Amino acid sequence: MENKNFEDIFEAKMAKNEIIEPKDWMPDNYRKHLIRQISQHAHSEIVGMLPEGNWITRAPSLRSKLVLLAKVQDEGGHGLYLYTAAETLGTDRDELLNALHTGKAKYSSIFNYPTLTWADIGAIGWLVDGAAIMNQVMLQRTSYGPYARAMVRICKEESFHQRQGYEIMCHLSFGTSEQKEMAQDALNRWWYPTLMMFGPPDAESPNSENAIKWRIKRESNDQLRQRFVNQTMEQVDYLGLTVPDKNLKYNETKKAYDFSEPNWAEFKNVISGNGPCNKERLAARNEAHKKGEWVRAAAAAYAKKNKDAVAA
Ligand code: 3HC
Repeated sequence: MENKNFEDIFEAKMAKNEIIEPKDWMPDNYRKHLIRQISQHAHSEIVGMLPEGNWITRAPSLRSKLVLLAKVQDEGGHGLYLYTAAETLGTDRDELLNALHTGKAKYSSIFNYPTLTWADIGAIGWLVDGAAIMNQVMLQRTSYGPYARAMVRICKEESFHQRQGYEIMCHLSFGTSEQKEMAQDALNRWWYPTLMMFGPPDAESPNSENAIKWRIKRESNDQLRQRFVNQTMEQVDYLGLTVPDKNLKYNETKKAYDFSEPNWAEFKNVISGNGPCNKERLAARNEAHKKGEWVRAAAAAYAKKNKDAVAA
């Protein structure tokens, strides 16, 4: 069949809001766009384990240690689902990981900020996983089947992540004055980097036009950012905390909050590798990958033994 006919079939599927599966024909640029986004999403999950992993040995109680352990393990699993989804597009996991470990591939800028106090673990769960959920619930309806299905499982686990963070913020905000100050300090430092998670403003997003056309994204960066602010402000008020933005106020006309944009120059600087923790995160990731070599070799040997046994 002619390429033209394949294109017509793809466009017809898009027009009917149908799901594209690995065996379906797809434009090269659609495939490349998905490999870029899904692999960076996977990188974000495994790098996201590092800031929180830093607090497992210092959690204030056995219960909070158990909860944080479970969350960090979940993030590793999310990375696994997403690398597997990326591989259905014909890419190779080692290649993707090499791009991460050599600093070529991006991961979410948010993970390049330090976790200075236990309140940061609360703010990450509450705000960062809250923002991730906002984005990932939308991605459950993305046009590429394996990505959409990976999101269903991930979103269920993210909800637990967001609740455990919010529980920590409640504990601190209704605790002693020092604890409340810790919660406010964490909100001050994590608010704007969290808004950056949704990507640059729509007008400056080189990928969004195709992402919307191909139904990879169902809402734009700015729409999701706005929804996140509207939804989070109720919780900020309940906690009795203050967002570090003097322009933030409810706009009765648009029935949504007006708020200040993040510092996009800072964003560009962080995603170019010059954030507070970029070097530390990449070094830790390379170290973990090197230390994990024996596990990968053992798993490959076991898989080969099984395969040979089946073939014999
Ligand atoms: N951090 C790092 N890079 C970012 C970014 C961010 N917060 N936001 C945008 N970028 C990059 C994009 O990757 C793109 O660069 P590239 O072309 O070299 O890949 C460039 O900035 C322009 O951004 P666009 O908006 O045009 O790019 P996208 O259309 O890809 O949108 C996105 C960016 C919104 C992050 C989108 O890729 C997306 O929705 N990805 C899936 C969700 C995701 O990756 N979330 C990351 C957090 S996962 C997480 O927090 C889980 C937690 O539980 C640990």
